Amino acid sequence: MAEIIAILNQKGGCGKTTTAVNLAAALALYGKQVLVIDMDPQGNATTGFGVEKNEITNTIYSVLTGASTIDDAVIDTDIPGLDVVASNIALSGAEIELSKEVGYHTILELAMETITDEYDYIFIDVPPSLGILTINCLVAADSVIIPIQAEFYALEGMADLLEAIQLVETRLKSPSPIKGILLTLYDSRTRLGRDVYSNVKEYFGASEHVFKTTIPRNITLAEAPSHGKPCIIYDEESSGSQAYINLAKELIRLDESEDNK
Ligand SMILES: Nc1ncnc2c1ncn2[C@@H]1O[C@H](COP(=O)(O)OP(=O)(O)OP(=O)(O)O)[C@@H](O)[C@H]1O
Ligand SMILES: [Mg+2]
Repeated sequence: MAEIIAILNQKGGCGKTTTAVNLAAALALYGKQVLVIDMDPQGNATTGFGVEKNEITNTIYSVLTGASTIDDAVIDTDIPGLDVVASNIALSGAEIELSKEVGYHTILELAMETITDEYDYIFIDVPPSLGILTINCLVAADSVIIPIQAEFYALEGMADLLEAIQLVETRLKSPSPIKGILLTLYDSRTRLGRDVYSNVKEYFGASEHVFKTTIPRNITLAEAPSHGKPCIIYDEESSGSQAYINLAKELIRLDESEDNK
């Protein structure tokens, strides 16, 4: 059975998609079978894998509305062991359409049932909001990774995010424990960067895992999507790629230690 991890933070631009794309690619390089489900109408994860989002008929939108099955929507990427379910702007209509359905929070979870045993990891790239799409992601996920941009306002909105995770657990009986907090766009040379890291550690205390791996601000990570490739394929030696490779190793170690518990 796949471990299903949602990458979420309602804050825009904190590195959710970059993390979904590059962590998935790094795990595939380690021989894991990995699927990325793009649940954001912006379709950035789709583009990040070089898939032309507006030329795809069977997207996550058609899956959620029942027009296609998820098996029909899975697309092979150029990277062995790595697949993607695409998204495009059509998904922006889904919030309203889905809200009319009975049991609308479980639509993604039910749609995914047929494919979960084909993968080791499934990452869901979540849009920057706490709406119906995000609730569907939380219900479908086993756990979450929260990327936090190392900036002055890093923890703003965190209480709302944690409350949403909590509500999905208590009201919908679908817990999604935090797999880890990931510091992104991090510059260890600046005082601000170091301060944010220690604030984040303090905020989450000993109760949550803050990844030891941090993701540096690295221009190659930002350039890679325009080449339709994950950074770790485009330029494996870049500091951003190396960070995501280290994150993949840390995640594998974390999973192994959980399995041994
Ligand atoms: N570590 C990094 N170094 C440099 N640029 C980065 C890094 N991480 C992300 N970026 C760039 O910052 C922008 C936002 O990143 P990304 O799209 O991953 O964030 P997001 O949280 O998915 O955004 P949204 O909330 O809009 O979905 C992108 O242009 C991306 O290429
Ligand atoms: Mg994104």
